[in-house]
Amino acid sequence: MATTSARPAAAGIDLQETARKHLWMHFSRMGGYDGDHEIPIIARGEGAYVWDDHGNRYLDGLSALFCCNAGHGRADYGEAAAAQIRELDFYTNWSYAHPRSIELAQRVAELAPGDLNRVFFTNSGSEAVESAIKVARNWHRAHGRGQRTKIITREVAYHGTTMGALTATGLTDLKVPFEPTMPGGNHVPNTNQYHWPEGRDPLWAAERLRERVEFEGPDTIAAVILEPLQNAGGCIPPQEGYFQRVREICDEHGILLVSDEVICSWGRLGHYFGCERYGYQPDIITTAKALTGAYIPMGAMIVSDEVFEPFSTGTASFAHGSTFGGHPVAAAVALRNLDVFAEEDLCGHVRKTEAEFRGKLEELRDIPIVGDVRGAGFFHALELVKDRDTKAPFSDEESEWLLRGFLSGELYRRGLICRADDRGDPVIQLSPPLICDTEQFDEIASILRSVLEEAAEKVAATG
Ligand SMILES: Cc1ncc(COP(=O)(O)O)c(C=O)c1O
Repeated sequence: MATTSARPAAAGIDLQETARKHLWMHFSRMGGYDGDHEIPIIARGEGAYVWDDHGNRYLDGLSALFCCNAGHGRADYGEAAAAQIRELDFYTNWSYAHPRSIELAQRVAELAPGDLNRVFFTNSGSEAVESAIKVARNWHRAHGRGQRTKIITREVAYHGTTMGALTATGLTDLKVPFEPTMPGGNHVPNTNQYHWPEGRDPLWAAERLRERVEFEGPDTIAAVILEPLQNAGGCIPPQEGYFQRVREICDEHGILLVSDEVICSWGRLGHYFGCERYGYQPDIITTAKALTGAYIPMGAMIVSDEVFEPFSTGTASFAHGSTFGGHPVAAAVALRNLDVFAEEDLCGHVRKTEAEFRGKLEELRDIPIVGDVRGAGFFHALELVKDRDTKAPFSDEESEWLLRGFLSGELYRRGLICRADDRGDPVIQLSPPLICDTEQFDEIASILRSVLEEAAEKVAATG
């Protein structure tokens, strides 16, 4: 039990009713909640588990949206925050520095691969991606290549919601309500090979990227932005050699390679950074979420010496920033989080146990609607299909019923938080805290089995 002195809910407040009346939840159908459909209210967390406001326990198989990698309820993170508040509550990084952001920048630069030595703090992943797009354009302009303004990203990939990051995002439904987005956004196929025809060249997706570079005109492209393992669409890994080929294409044409690691850094794939897992060296890494263990918001853009160079001398500056980027309290919590990573060897634990986790998920392949199991580290997805032999997908209506009408609610009711997502083909995503072990792997597999078997029976019954 966590010994908390958290602020108690205001006396007499009906959380459900008040949330329905006043809270605007993100990416949520607010009209879907009523007396019969409760808003899930998570009230407490400890280790790999959270509890709702009724006291029901859930295994947090999503790490609170790929965030709480070191698990919930670590009081020492709070102590680090309190100590920082006592010493210096806030000072900005806008024209000033403070000890914690300096120490954290050094620590992150030491952990980041190659010459990624310069750290620009943000408050979120979207801001980190936004910063990367702006620095890429600015870097080319500083070298007399101001026409290089375009970006290339992948279909179905999610890179955030601010206008630049939204342009990078490859999900039509998220963009259309806000169009026009930033000019210069281009999308190429991702690496989901489950539906590829047999015998297709494993580097097919990399070649589509090369074609797009040549079609657009290589000297108009500022950056290629890719996740090491693509989240949206269901934990899509790269083919062997994909990133090496992309790196070659970028080098050949003078394009910056941005590794968007808002999810894939901080141990999610068994390394501090996802690019280490796949053996490529980006020019820029964007990160956020688990940098602080998500106990407080913080993101970062980490750039190479070469990218920083035009901003390093004379009167040059990067005309970009925010009041709170590099907040001392967030930096103090991030430093404590990185201590925990080292003390508990969380990356090593993922590498040691990921095969066991994956094995338990692989066993679910006997359920008729489980088409594919894929991912890496502690980041896996099951792709659901109507017919495993033909890989026939569910229609939009079937997918809506299966994911929203049945699976999401049922998995939650049986004590597992994970993501049932249809921003591509329907998938169930698992991204448990990095402290999980056999007990949690078994619990995840057992709840998934009971719910997916029931779903498969319902699918069979409706033909
Ligand atoms: C790869 C990637 N980039 C960017 C973002 C945006 O991060 P945030 O929600 O912190 O703005 C996300 C969020 O999930 C993400 O997964």
